[in-house]
Amino acid sequence: MTQKSANTVWHPATINRADREKLHQHKSVILWFTGLSGSGKSTLAHAVEEHLHKAGISTMVLDGDNVRHGLCSDLEFSDRDRVENIRRIGELAKLMAEAGIITLSAFISPFKADRDVARKLMLPGDFLEIYCQCPIETCEQRDVKGLYKKARAGEIPFFTGIGSPYEAPENPELVINTHELSLEESVVKVLNLLGQQGIIKPGL
Ligand code: ADX
Repeated sequence: MTQKSANTVWHPATINRADREKLHQHKSVILWFTGLSGSGKSTLAHAVEEHLHKAGISTMVLDGDNVRHGLCSDLEFSDRDRVENIRRIGELAKLMAEAGIITLSAFISPFKADRDVARKLMLPGDFLEIYCQCPIETCEQRDVKGLYKKARAGEIPFFTGIGSPYEAPENPELVINTHELSLEESVVKVLNLLGQQGIIKPGL
């Protein structure tokens, strides 16, 4: 987004990302979970966070429903608002990377172009897209929040997968079939990815 105010001057930090990563004794990265509502993004992100936290790693989960209570409470689910939602999260995740933290973001983020914008904000290797793949029928059967039922009844317009599209990632760093794998198996897959990328020690 172009900057509206011309009268701001970037202040260089004396402590930088590398200093913070050194303090934390691990690299920062963004694990960007995407998938339908009910596909298990938040559950998986929190389970991975729990594991990393226990291993002494600094983490932060950014969760769609929670962020929409605060930072993005002014946004609805029109295409335009979803674009803005993901733009803000992308910028926030970038700040988190600067803070030397492993960020786990769990947003439907239905549009490929918006996910790519978020990816391009980061340095190569900083953005790991994890597609929580689950048939909509399964998400709808789970219907943990009762929202699919409401959407089918016409009470929620633009519900992803019903009144609004979901564009699956074409080249994600990882695909997790959350309807086939257990939560523990899914966590291991994410940890393996972090190990392969040199973010955490393999086998942590
Ligand atoms: S996103 O599309 O902008 O990325 P986000 O992840 O922030 O969505 O929020 C999704 C959550 O909001 C869903 O898990 C669900 O609980 C709730 N929600 C409410 N209305 C909608 C809707 N129209 N479409 C999808 N999710 C909705």
